[in-house]
Amino acid sequence: MGRALIIAIDGPAASGKTTLARRLARELNYLFFDTGILYRAVTWLALTRGEDLHDEDRMTRLVQELDIELRPDPQTGETRIYFQGRDISRDLYSPQVDAWVSVVAAHPGVRTALKDVQRRIALQGGIIVVGRDIGTVIVPEADVKIYLDASLEERARRRYQEARSRGHEVSFEQVLEDMRRRDALDSSRDTAPLRPAEDAFILKTNGLSPEEVFQRVMALIRERTP
Ligand code: DC
Repeated sequence: MGRALIIAIDGPAASGKTTLARRLARELNYLFFDTGILYRAVTWLALTRGEDLHDEDRMTRLVQELDIELRPDPQTGETRIYFQGRDISRDLYSPQVDAWVSVVAAHPGVRTALKDVQRRIALQGGIIVVGRDIGTVIVPEADVKIYLDASLEERARRRYQEARSRGHEVSFEQVLEDMRRRDALDSSRDTAPLRPAEDAFILKTNGLSPEEVFQRVMALIRERTP
């Protein structure tokens, strides 16, 4: 394919973004950048240190102290995150981080501090950038913008299975409730709320297999490739 594109994928939790991004990254030989891990890393650090997660100034300062490094996993191409040299990727998906991350991600100071970090990485091109506000705020100049969606129940089912396979003890009701709360927080926050960009391709993934989603998006990318 031609020049190295910037592909933005946004959508609510467990809408299929990661599965799609992984597959696209493999197919196109692009980097996969999951921006959610940055918000998760700040949340994890705050919880580890027993900080007040509602304190915006404190959380924003924490971004500056975040001594992290992102490295693509050589096998999957997925972004792994290291804190002071230790791989903390798995810790970032604990139920505790899940429960708090939307609170941290709603602080405008945190979002501004993380914006430059994300833009610097995204603008390299040849990259799939996954998040909530990539097409609207972080890289509005992205070549292809996808917005994935699926019903709350469907997404909760997927997240529940994921959590169990990672060995976390959770109930389906707990996951469903947590996701409902996060959806509300992510969509109603004042800064960069979750919503599709005007020029985004919106795809509802209920009842679609990962392969079908991938094929539809690939067709779109081919159309957009100069
Ligand atoms: O995709 P995820 O579940 O790892 O995202 C974790 C949280 O971070 C989620 O509550 C929304 C927030 N987030 C965000 O606000 N903006 C992004 N670009 C990525 C994630």
